[in-house]
Amino acid sequence: MKIAVCGKGGVGKTTISGLLCRTLGNKGIPVLAIDGDPNPNLALTLGVDPAAVMPKALSSKLLEVFEKEDGKKYAKLKAPLAEVMDLHGIQAANNVTLLAVGQPEHAGTGCMCGIHTTVREIIHTALEESEQVTLLDLEASLEQMKRGTSKYVDVLLCIVEPYYRSMEAVARFQRLGNELEIKNIVAVANKVKNAEDEEAIRQFCAQTDLPVVAVIPFDTIISEADKGGSLDMNAIDHSPALKAINQLADTLLKRVRTSANK
Ligand SMILES: Nc1ncnc2c1ncn2[C@@H]1O[C@H](COP(=O)(O)OP(=O)(O)O)[C@@H](O)[C@H]1O
Ligand SMILES: [Mg+2]
Repeated sequence: MKIAVCGKGGVGKTTISGLLCRTLGNKGIPVLAIDGDPNPNLALTLGVDPAAVMPKALSSKLLEVFEKEDGKKYAKLKAPLAEVMDLHGIQAANNVTLLAVGQPEHAGTGCMCGIHTTVREIIHTALEESEQVTLLDLEASLEQMKRGTSKYVDVLLCIVEPYYRSMEAVARFQRLGNELEIKNIVAVANKVKNAEDEEAIRQFCAQTDLPVVAVIPFDTIISEADKGGSLDMNAIDHSPALKAINQLADTLLKRVRTSANK
């Protein structure tokens, strides 16, 4: 199963990504988590100690540039995924490995291909080659995905909060996901405070036939635990949001299994 997580900035992508990975990992499923955000903090929601040594910054030296018949230059990753993991991977707890690719490289490496191309190529390769359940925490756009990447992505998880701009952003992600031909495009309602919040999201999503596969309550246990930096699973043991994320993990496993059998 390969999951890409999108949504407007601040809706809870990184929080849900981290906790979803750990929940799946705790069910005995090894997970590869990819942080595609230029401001990477998936490590923290995965419980990685902030003082831990972070992997090397990404370098466009990992790319090989070649020319196609059309005379245009293209870039592709020259290293196998295992090599990229050696340089940029971190072993986190709960059966999760993290690949942090979002952080910018040092200036002046002399490569003409931009960091965006490198990030996209690494993501593409990781999705293609990884045999683990793989989750991609995207920056607040689908810029890092390209046509062709989507054939490896089973699920586009659109995180949505109960306010208009966030819902409108999700409608945009749904359109982009359709253009990329992703099979399962689904919404997750987050920070839901009451029945009206839930209804607002459900009504909005119903207009574009976007299934709401989970409703995660606004939960101060999460926001309080988050203030300390690294998210401690023991501290959020009784969190209603974590319980909803656990159900989401089961729903996704079932949904992907069913769509694979079709
Ligand atoms: N269900 C929730 N209840 C309460 N706070 C939440 C919830 N989900 C996320 N948050 C808080 O919202 C803030 C933004 O979350 P984050 O995951 O960083 O968003 P994004 O990655 O989409 O920018 C964080 O402070 C996080 O603790
Ligand atoms: Mg984030």
